[in-house]
Formats: sequence, C-alpha cells, structure tokens
Amino acid sequence: MHIILTLNISYAHVDYKGASVTDTFPAFTAEIEKQTRPLYAKLKNFVPAVEWSLLAPLIAEINRLKVEKNALILAHNYMTPDIFHGVADIVGDSLALAREAVNTTADIIVVCGVHFMAETVKILNPDKTVLIADLEAGCSLSEGITADDVLEMRRLHPGVPVVTYVNTSAEVKAVTDVCCTSGNALEVVESLDADEIIFIPDQYLGRNVQRLTKKKLHLWNGSCMVHEKFTPSEIRELRSVHKNLTVMAHPECPPEVVDEADYAGSTAQMIQFIQKNKPAKIALITECSMSDNVAVPFPEVEFIRPCNLCPHMKKITLPKILDALRSERPQVHVDAALIAPARRAIDAMLAVKLR
Ligand code: 13P
Ligand code: SF4
Repeated sequence: MHIILTLNISYAHVDYKGASVTDTFPAFTAEIEKQTRPLYAKLKNFVPAVEWSLLAPLIAEINRLKVEKNALILAHNYMTPDIFHGVADIVGDSLALAREAVNTTADIIVVCGVHFMAETVKILNPDKTVLIADLEAGCSLSEGITADDVLEMRRLHPGVPVVTYVNTSAEVKAVTDVCCTSGNALEVVESLDADEIIFIPDQYLGRNVQRLTKKKLHLWNGSCMVHEKFTPSEIRELRSVHKNLTVMAHPECPPEVVDEADYAGSTAQMIQFIQKNKPAKIALITECSMSDNVAVPFPEVEFIRPCNLCPHMKKITLPKILDALRSERPQVHVDAALIAPARRAIDAMLAVKLR
C-alpha cells in the first residue's frame, strides 16, 4: 500500500504543516510507545503528548533504518530537540561535526544541518553516500560570496593568505588557504605566519576576531541573517528584567552585542561554559533550538529565550529525514575538481591546535 500522510502539527519552532511522508507511515504502537518512553521523559516539556504520538513512530523508524543501512546521523546544535535528542548519533558545532566526519565507518552519513555542512562532510568522505534532508537548507553567509570574489580579494592583497569560515561553498573553500569555524577562528588566524590575513566572509566574526589579534584582517561584508538581528539594547532590556542573568553571545553577532555579553563562543563552547560554570539563569544569544536542546541536560538552569530562528536550519525535519534515509535521496555531490583543494583547506584547519 502507498499512502501519503500530511502532518498538521507545529512543534518546537517548526511548522510541519504540509510536510509529507510518503510510503507506509509507521503507527504509534504500544511497542513504540514503550521504546520511546525514556526519550519522551526528556522532551515532554517541549512536545505535547498528542504531537509525540506522531513524532515517536518517525523517531523509531529512523533509528531502525540507521542500523539496517549502517547510517550515521550528524546533527548541528540548531536542530530541533526531536532530531537532536531523538535520532542524532553525534551532535555538535560546525567544528565537531567536521572532526567526526573524518573518522566514521558508516556507509551513509545523514547531515542534519545546512548544505555547507553536508558539503564539508562529502569533501572529507568523497566515497561515501552523504544525504541532507533538504537541499534548499542554505546559509546567508555561504550565499554571500563566490570563488571569483575571493580571487578578486587575492588580487587586491597579493600574497596575503585567505582564512575562510566553513559557512561557505566548496568552490570558495577550494580557493582558500585554511578554513576556520567560530570555535577556532582566533587560533587559525594566530597560527599563520603572516601579519595580514584575508578573513571571509562574516564581517562580524571578522570584527570580533580583529579585536583579539594584532594581525590586520581584510574583511568581506557577509553576515548571518540570524545573528545580525540581535541588538545591544535588547540585551540591556533582558538584564533589567531578569536579575543575575548570564548572557552568552555567538561571535556571528555584531561586536556591540558581544560587548554586552558575559561570554562569546561557538555553540559547543557555550555548552562547555554552562557545564563548567553552571549559571542559574542564562540567555543564549543565538538560534532558537539551541536553548531547547541544552535545557534537557541542565534542568536546574533557567533559560531566558531571546532567540532568532534560522529558516535554513528549520528546513530539516523528521519526516524529511525519514524520506531521505528510505530513498537515499537527496545526495550531496561536490565537483571532483574541487575536492582536493577544498580538503586541503579543511585539513589545514583540523591540524591547528586549540588552546
Ligand atoms: P557553530 O555551531 O560552529 O558555532 O556555528 C554556528 C552556525 O551558525 C552554523 O551555521
Ligand atoms: Fe547560516 Fe546563520 Fe543559519 Fe548558521 S544560523 S546556517 S550562519 S544563516
């Protein structure tokens, strides 16, 4: 039998209306209810029981298929909690996902994140099947710069090395000397034997790094559509309403916003800060799902949630992941000519030691 089921639920920042799961759709049996009960105990603050009856069978079926197909799911910290806690094998920031992608013995890697992350995984694993649940999950940073733009910057600054944020296409990585993430940008810049560096494409990450290094950075005018929306007055307002608030900002935020925060770091570095310092009340100045995911292992921490949604990250949903695993589509392809030069830039980043 072939059925098309349309989900009409809206859950944890994701509107599933109109999402379709083709082929036989698993039912919420007593067995699935029992199997997923410990997981629901963790997620019940985020998912009403009626929605769980639709999500739990998807989670159970995705986890079954992962074993059957020797597939690994890598999920970014901005995935919704059903994906992050329900089906991911490895979760993390962009740097952690790139590191994990090097070592896997899986035949299929499903990237729950945006397209540049899936491309990075494919560059590191050209012979494996790399899937992304929605090829349209892009990134405003990645879309804001081309390889020709980088070559023009090289022409304007001859001999100056290029450090490129991983939030870029394979074409751009292929004309880069070394990549970086928000978790290692300063270390990568400091590792280079050069007084000037072309640092692209995020102007805000670049300005935040510029304040921490004596090297001269030549920047591009790219920005993250999610983080550039935060303002210093928004943070001052939060502090006036919520006493003893610890504010953590992602370095893709403008420097004026980072100045208002107690700590700035990548999504994984924010989690490490919480683990170490256990603040009582936190505002994470970043994408919305981050607080939902981190709140699960830290039930004693109060999360104030001034968040902005990434429309690209939110394109990845459980029904689409199930479709992708079943059909092994859509696959991520990278032009063969780009793989070696892009990989050199990623490997150069992975070789840089963190402090
Ligand atoms: P990190 O998880 O590496 O901090 O990156 C944030 C981001 O915006 C990824 O798209
Ligand atoms: Fe790109 Fe910003 Fe979305 Fe990350 S949060 S994928 S940087 S648009």
